[in-house]
Amino acid sequence: MTDRVYIFDTTLRDGEQSPGCSMNIQEKLELARQLERLKVDVIEAGFAIASPGDFQSVKAIADTIKDCTVASLARANEQDIVRAAEALKNAADPRIHTFIATSDIHMKYKLRMTPEEVLERTKSMVAYARNFCSSVEFSAEDATRSEPEFLFRVFEAAIKAGATVINVPDTVGYTTPEEFYQLIKDIRNNVNGIDKVILSVHCHNDLGMAVANTLAALKAGARQLECTINGIGERAGNAALEEIVMAIKTRKNLFHVDSRVDTTQIYRSSKLLSSITGVSVQPNKAIVGANAFAHEAGIHQHGVLAERSTYEIMTPESIGLNRNKMVLGKHSGRHAFEEHLKSLGYNLSKAELDAAFEKFKVLADKKKKVDDEDIEVLISQKAVEIPEVYKLDRFVINTGNTITATASVRLIKQNGEPVMIEEVSTGDGPVDAAFRAIEKIVGVNYVLEDYKVRSVTGGQDAQGEAYVKLRRNGKIFTGKGISTDIFEASALSYINAINKMIYEEKIQAQS
Ligand code: KIV
Ligand code: ZN
Repeated sequence: MTDRVYIFDTTLRDGEQSPGCSMNIQEKLELARQLERLKVDVIEAGFAIASPGDFQSVKAIADTIKDCTVASLARANEQDIVRAAEALKNAADPRIHTFIATSDIHMKYKLRMTPEEVLERTKSMVAYARNFCSSVEFSAEDATRSEPEFLFRVFEAAIKAGATVINVPDTVGYTTPEEFYQLIKDIRNNVNGIDKVILSVHCHNDLGMAVANTLAALKAGARQLECTINGIGERAGNAALEEIVMAIKTRKNLFHVDSRVDTTQIYRSSKLLSSITGVSVQPNKAIVGANAFAHEAGIHQHGVLAERSTYEIMTPESIGLNRNKMVLGKHSGRHAFEEHLKSLGYNLSKAELDAAFEKFKVLADKKKKVDDEDIEVLISQKAVEIPEVYKLDRFVINTGNTITATASVRLIKQNGEPVMIEEVSTGDGPVDAAFRAIEKIVGVNYVLEDYKVRSVTGGQDAQGEAYVKLRRNGKIFTGKGISTDIFEASALSYINAINKMIYEEKIQAQS
């Protein structure tokens, strides 16, 4: 007998809280659409009361996503719950996720509340949330460091007040698989009504055991697993969705559960997240790392050539990684391009296809062979488009090891009637010179927090992907640029971050 397990994705809430992983509304919406294609059960879209931007993001996702439950986090107070309910108003299947801490250390130092007050607050706020939504999840923050007897009373009270999902977070990544297994069993044996609700777990990775703890809880009877793509999240992150889902699938003989996740969308989801945030996974990351399906040792290669299952416990295809890369070139026609995109799982609208084909032609002119990696990169460029107030027209860079680098950059400003603006600057190297010239044109103050460039496809004519992070008024804006020329990629990434900054500040001013 196999049971159904629910996958609750919190990439857009807990994941987005991790350093360097902030996203704007368009980026969150794009990722939410991908999570819908991945077929997670629940998308935690954000923490509606945290800021106007968070509210707008939760609302946009709730308005758009039809095939997943959409949740918003809310502390156990009326204002948070009302704000979450407002953001979720148009959701096809909304959920309010309310929480309060139950460990002595949190109650005493953070909440400054007595256990009895926490118990009362749980009852009243779960009941209050039920006035707005029939699906209410209750989390006992820092559950694994809470007094078990008190935790049982709080959970029982939450269920009586109408909670439909009870979540057990290992907030600080403190527990171990055996201990967590026992806690879940104890909750199942000591909390009245627990079998009428969904029992959920939410594990952090501070000791590197988030996935192991989650799977131990699954064995003990938890049926909702909270996780994030690439395991991003507060501090050392959350349990990685791809690891949990593939463990359940590959070791079905142990877990006896099914999720509804379409695993062939895993690789693309991971790539999309990295491409939006500029944070890549380490090469040896389980499931989605660059080496996860690479066989280096001769003896392994020999074994795999003879029979793949000698060293492969799951296939790359099962996570959507195409082993047989197809190559297109500048003579490939629109029809071949479209058919190939379909075989990669992309069904684009006519307008999207036109734009992608145009980009493909430009790339095929620069590169002899355009392979699947190039195409994935090309499609991801369209992922999150925002109005281009500034557009790169041309640039010239003069550099060498015996001269000061100088860059001349011309941008088109498209705010009303398009105008060309050109500036020249010297700099500490060619990229710095180009960035300074762009800065002169734009004339706003911000701090360059981070800049990096890496190749995203193979070969000498590889495409380079540049990322910059700009900080202004405490907010980070990530820009991305792709080109076979790394100076062009760098300039494009810088302009992209500036355009995002202008766009978001405009939205902020309107709300
Ligand atoms: O880690 C945690 O405790 C949380 C809760 C809000 C569920 O993220
Ligand atoms: Zn968390």
